[in-house]
Amino acid sequence: MYHLECIECGKTYSKTDVLYTCECGGLLDVIYDYSTIKLDMDVLKTVCPSVWKYKELLPIEQEPVSIQEGGTPLYKCDRLAEKIGVRSLYVKHEGMNPTGSFKDRGMTVGVSKAIELGMKTVACASTGNTSAALAIYGAKAGIPAVVLLPEGKVALGKVAQALMHGAKVLSVRGNFDEALDLVRKLCDEERIYLLNSINPYRLEGQKTIGFEIVDQLGFNVPDRIVLPVGNAGNITAIYKGFKEFMKLGITDRVPKMTGIQTEGACPIVKAVRERADDIIPEKDPETIATAIRIGNPVNARKALKAIYESDGTADSVTDDELVQAQKWLAQLEGIGVEPASATSVAGLKKLVDSGVIGHDETVVCVTTGHLLKDPEEVISVSAEPIVVDATIEAIRKAVLEN
Ligand code: F0G
Repeated sequence: MYHLECIECGKTYSKTDVLYTCECGGLLDVIYDYSTIKLDMDVLKTVCPSVWKYKELLPIEQEPVSIQEGGTPLYKCDRLAEKIGVRSLYVKHEGMNPTGSFKDRGMTVGVSKAIELGMKTVACASTGNTSAALAIYGAKAGIPAVVLLPEGKVALGKVAQALMHGAKVLSVRGNFDEALDLVRKLCDEERIYLLNSINPYRLEGQKTIGFEIVDQLGFNVPDRIVLPVGNAGNITAIYKGFKEFMKLGITDRVPKMTGIQTEGACPIVKAVRERADDIIPEKDPETIATAIRIGNPVNARKALKAIYESDGTADSVTDDELVQAQKWLAQLEGIGVEPASATSVAGLKKLVDSGVIGHDETVVCVTTGHLLKDPEEVISVSAEPIVVDATIEAIRKAVLEN
């Protein structure tokens, strides 16, 4: 039992309506009748985490379109914790999802909803990962997918996925924000289902990151979640997950939601500094972390609410800082992430150094996408391989040389 509700004016809509925002323009949330939801704690404590483990809290009634998403590892990272100066640090590595990013959690629900609603085509604008996930879930469901990508600004692995899995790939001469405006118009005018994170059903899938973190910590809540923010859907979704577990009496608090952006694309950070409840869009966002090269995040109002309500914060890091953090993750913990994901760790370091985050906090950083998504960035920030002759002398010399 659930319906859609506007976060601004409270107007409600039926679950059979195909819409993405309220008549007043406000964002929508999926609201359940929580009194009817009964989770069996014995089952919760024994079944392995996955998106569909929590199906009582997901808005899908039919068999979902699934390729086994979720259930990603939560690594305890002691070497990284020591480097950063926090007592207890975990990394939730969402790059270990089937398509290599957290978007799978949203798409298993979003594409399932498209099928339930009888939609015949699905579409999104994307900085890359959303398009890869949409292409793959579209393929699994047997429904055509259309993706709009900002020309020349999408990492190679993501374009490769969208192409191979059969989406119609449009390379738009414009940035992500422009592509999103265009795909929203297209979906309003044609019977095509929009699966950007403005679609509240997609966020329902992503809230399971919050459920899984609690589950993997033995039904404890960490002090703080630190994660990259782009279109600001994920921070909103994860916070909703934590709030729902609290509503159901499974936990008794929520973590401080802490969003990290890059200095070249940080409208949410600027809003938090002003304690504003909305952002001022940035016209020409730029960063090496192309996944979060976004100047006008559509979920800003929800995200700001999540940050303020949870007593969290937001900060920005430079491209150099995030590359450093990407190398720490890779070389201290064996966790390979794409640039955007590393902003979480770079931001944590900055906030610990400045005293905003205490040394004694238990922190979970969410790394949102896999290293192999953006091989070109990795090559550009790494040393070149050493070329040697095929002789044992040359190899010995190269190995033993400092
Ligand atoms: N990290 C990665 C790797 C992403 O791909 C994204 C968003 C984010 C973080 C930010 O998440 O938008 O919910 O705040 N990527 C979108 C895309 C925009 O099109 O793939 P958010």
